[in-house]
Amino acid sequence: MKKWMPLIAFFPLLSTVAMSQKVPVYLDDSKTIEQRVNAALSAMTLEEKVAMCHAQSIFSSKGVARLGIPELWMSDGPHGVHPELFYDYWAQANWTNDSSTAFPALTCLAASFNPPIAELYGKAVGEEARYRNKSVLLGPGVNIYRTPLNGRNFEYMGEDPFLASKLVVPYIKGVQSNGVAACVKHFALNEQETWRMDVDVDVSERALHEIYLPAFKAAVKEGKVWSVMGAYNKFRGHHCSHNDILLNQILKKEWKFDGVVISDWGGVHNTQEAAYNGLDLEMGTNTDGMTSSIANSYNSYFLAVPFLKELNSGKIDTFIVNEKARRILRLIFRTTMNRNRPFGSLATPEHAAVARKIAQEGMVLLKNDKQILPIPNTIKSIAVIGENATRSMTIGGGSSELKVRYEVSPLEGIKNRFGKTALVQYAQGYGSGKYLYDSIAPSPYDAVKLRDEAVALAAKSELVVLVGGLNKNSNQDCEGRDRLDYGLPFGQNELLTDILNVNKNVVLVVVSGNAVEMPWEKQVPAIVQAWYGGTESGNAIADILSGDVNPSGKLPFTFPVKLSDNGAISLGKTSYPGNENGHKQVYKDGIFVGYRWHDSKSIPPLFPFGHGLSYTQFAYSNLSLTKETDGNIKATFTIANKGKVSGNEVAQLYIHKENSTIERAENELKGFQKVFLLAGEAKTVSLQLNKEAFQYYNEKRKDWATEKGAYTILVGGSSREVYLKKSIVL
Ligand code: GLC
Repeated sequence: MKKWMPLIAFFPLLSTVAMSQKVPVYLDDSKTIEQRVNAALSAMTLEEKVAMCHAQSIFSSKGVARLGIPELWMSDGPHGVHPELFYDYWAQANWTNDSSTAFPALTCLAASFNPPIAELYGKAVGEEARYRNKSVLLGPGVNIYRTPLNGRNFEYMGEDPFLASKLVVPYIKGVQSNGVAACVKHFALNEQETWRMDVDVDVSERALHEIYLPAFKAAVKEGKVWSVMGAYNKFRGHHCSHNDILLNQILKKEWKFDGVVISDWGGVHNTQEAAYNGLDLEMGTNTDGMTSSIANSYNSYFLAVPFLKELNSGKIDTFIVNEKARRILRLIFRTTMNRNRPFGSLATPEHAAVARKIAQEGMVLLKNDKQILPIPNTIKSIAVIGENATRSMTIGGGSSELKVRYEVSPLEGIKNRFGKTALVQYAQGYGSGKYLYDSIAPSPYDAVKLRDEAVALAAKSELVVLVGGLNKNSNQDCEGRDRLDYGLPFGQNELLTDILNVNKNVVLVVVSGNAVEMPWEKQVPAIVQAWYGGTESGNAIADILSGDVNPSGKLPFTFPVKLSDNGAISLGKTSYPGNENGHKQVYKDGIFVGYRWHDSKSIPPLFPFGHGLSYTQFAYSNLSLTKETDGNIKATFTIANKGKVSGNEVAQLYIHKENSTIERAENELKGFQKVFLLAGEAKTVSLQLNKEAFQYYNEKRKDWATEKGAYTILVGGSSREVYLKKSIVL
């Protein structure tokens, strides 16, 4: 070898050109991704392949510098791009150019029931990830809303697998249109934060396939998602980040997933399982090295030196590491090495407008007695009360937290909209306790004083807008812990009752990602579920309260009257949160989650799945069912806007099996469409029901099956407001 050769090898591109005019295949854009992956794989050493399978910092993993293959950078989260952290540890690096847009929490997106909006969401948040040079965005989350206590429900898309499946696909396509990988999470059965690192879930095959997997399956098979995050918890004894049933048998073999399985941060527990049970990329492991010294921590990862040793000794076949490296290379070629990727954009007015639109579309008008809403422009005084009227909701909550360029609070939004013509005054009303380690510190506020001030203001105002709900503190809507109870915290119930005693004109705006108990519901004339609306939440709330935008959101999960009405919780400790010793858990509610439970037990909900009012009224008529040549069934019906203002209605279609010979939910959502109608306008809507719509998972046959016989097709404005019914025989 010429003596100048080693020197030039440090300049890959130069060395490449110098050694041969031909660009190597893995750098050649004209070749297919698979050709480039194969070429890179055959050029890599064993050490380079192993190095690629685990973190090199808390949010990046190695490429192959020698070959000009860049490292892979990832970032949270589902609602926006997380501010930059230090290379090796979990603290914000205080950059001055990483403030982002906070898009509404995914529960709000789910409540929009609007797939095109989900694609707009994904495209915009993907543009921000792209601009921040992150090639994997760690979201969306599609775990199922099984109880109202899960601390992370706000990050997910509700209780119904069909709804989540229809929204997760366009979100992923939107993100990936930027050359950024989405990472659907947390696969799977991660429906609580209590004991999340080791709770060992078991669930029937039927509930697994009918309730907990469909959104992940849609993400892979329809969304073509490029990465999947293994969950922390166990499923049938093995951690989900290296679980043969979930990752090898279902995800990679049955669904033919060709992307990368990334562990949750700290979700990997041993080399053998990490090698053989479907994991590709180990992140966030707090191995001994990490605690003793940062320097060698990444080498002590389970898929680092220990893995290399077993490969070198022949205990693990090199096929195993080649398969992991192949998938990671494929992800790199789809993202960082895709030269045609757009450049993205960060915290732009366009993205703020998208955030506001999503928040408008997701907000749910739960009740509106005496048409107290929309607030008339003639209003003279508004008392805005509640800590949530001013509290930032884009910080906190765990890994989905953000550093925003700005955030419009509900108080600011209401002042922006009404401040020129009405006296808008504020009283905090209540204060939340600060979360201190394992206890909730008493609120630092004088609760009585806060309440008295608020009641005094309410007494002298024409209208009260009480902005309450939960917040992003631990044991509220926050990662790492579940809620401790179902009620509104921090004395809000007492405050509300005192306010109602002096002023009946109260609009309650609930800022939360979870259902809450409403013992006073009958006394409150109007209630709006506002979710966590992100950067423009305050303006979006004012858009809805003023009627500038007609509310069209529908509940993506049931609001039970009381906690014991929830299936999972009513079935005892083993069902939720699992057994104290050993943390074994059985999803005893099976397929009966959410409205499926309430319907099967005839338990009336406070507000049903799919519920949401409008400032106008819609009428449904003329349902007809036709069998198509391809075996699909087409349901056609008319919706008319009978009111004085235009608006969107989410028409929902449920199926019911008559005289079923197996255990089934009473009704199941199998179609929906959001329809815009001018005042007085009517439109004909058609929804397709393919064969999957009628299937159930047959545990004996380990496959999907269809019961022959009569089905009722139900069409309406929620799971309990059915206006049209028709039978059909399959
Ligand atoms: C967290 C979360 C996961 C997040 C990851 C990185 O613990 O479970 O959703 O993406 O670690 O922050």
